Amino acid sequence: MSKTNHAQWSSRFSFILAATGSAVGLGNIWKFPYMVGQSGGAAFVLVYLLCIFLIGLPILVTEWMLGRRGQSNPVTTMSKVAHSAGRTRAWALVGVSGVLGAFLILSFYSVIGGWSLYYTLGSVSGDFAGQSADGIGELFSGMLASPGLLLMWHSIFMLLVIGIVARGVTKGLEGAVNIMMPALALLLVVLIGYGMTTGHFGEAVAYLFNPDWSKLSGETVLAALGHAFFTLSLGMGIMLAYGSYLGQEVNLIKTARTVVIMDTVIALGAGLAIFPIVFANNLDLASGPSLIFVTLPVAFGNIGGGTILGLLFFVLLTFAALTSAISLLEPVTEFLEERTPLSRAPAAIVAGLAAWALGIAALLSFNLWSDFTVVGLGVFDLLDKLTSKFMLPLTGLGAVVFAAWFLNRDEVRKDLELSDSGFTLWTLLTRFVAPIGVLVVFIASL
Ligand code: PHE
Repeated sequence: MSKTNHAQWSSRFSFILAATGSAVGLGNIWKFPYMVGQSGGAAFVLVYLLCIFLIGLPILVTEWMLGRRGQSNPVTTMSKVAHSAGRTRAWALVGVSGVLGAFLILSFYSVIGGWSLYYTLGSVSGDFAGQSADGIGELFSGMLASPGLLLMWHSIFMLLVIGIVARGVTKGLEGAVNIMMPALALLLVVLIGYGMTTGHFGEAVAYLFNPDWSKLSGETVLAALGHAFFTLSLGMGIMLAYGSYLGQEVNLIKTARTVVIMDTVIALGAGLAIFPIVFANNLDLASGPSLIFVTLPVAFGNIGGGTILGLLFFVLLTFAALTSAISLLEPVTEFLEERTPLSRAPAAIVAGLAAWALGIAALLSFNLWSDFTVVGLGVFDLLDKLTSKFMLPLTGLGAVVFAAWFLNRDEVRKDLELSDSGFTLWTLLTRFVAPIGVLVVFIASL
């Protein structure tokens, strides 16, 4: 059986790239800037940073630690680890919910990945050139209204994802992130460089870094915490799966610190790339989810060099989306590979095609099936809410509560290479701060 030699990342560096690739996604480039825009800038950023370090980082380390102990897919891992700690195997439900969550998210994430591909092409073919805000708005709503167009780009995106994951951890995942992550960083630097030439860079910096505390509300805090969770790809079995390919020599806390810092730097970098353009062109800061698909292309269509800037921007977005999407397919693939007779490539294909099929229902909710709703939500919104509001927090909570309360303390301490004071802090964060934080967001979002 192929199951006996479980794959391993070829180096700590590849692992960092892969984990950062998962963390850096639509959440960083698309969602973070518009959330900052809607929530009043730097005050939001500060709260977000607190959430990332006090809650996100401990849960990230916990998921890796569990995955590394289990050396298997999230379901088997949770069952094994619980059993060897003398606890019920029912903890495997945490793994089940993670794998299922990743599968559901992949289905609609791929639809948005498809938009990104479509916009990449659109920027090359000059679709934005000279368009007014209304014109671009129509381009966007025209895309949403066309099932054929959405289906085509969703399918291409998913094929790319399946193609990468089918090739395995070292050839597929590492091969993809080794190219896309450096390219992503370079593109971001170029776009920030452009931002500096607009004469509005200072405004963007002030906006991101000078807090206006009056803008802070309970809602903002909740949004920051929810986003900290989403942006680190927590609660989806992803980090459990990525941890399962890790060797014992890797220091999890140091590695997590690196990944968290890179994720944050890239999110802030996206703000520094986007906001100067927004300020320079008098665009609407608070335009929300349409910020990068409607607002920003107006600028690309009307400024010198806009075609090339738009192209760079949407390639960046596509790379970010792809490296996250492969991380969503990974836990499902690993599960099928280890728990069914399927080998790697067929497992990736089966999982990917199933998510693709569900994605079709999601994309039809923008047009043909727009009247079909469950509890008042279309399929796309339903999948989004179900995963981000219920499955992710509960899965993350399950993992951290299990690890903090039910594992042997000495073993955890050794695993994490912590000093006495470090371990006290760790215990405080994972037993109380993180679970309470997650619970508060969970309850408030109901
Ligand atoms: N962390 C990714 C982001 O910031 C989002 C993501 C969610 C990735 C779920 C994988 C899984 O966009």
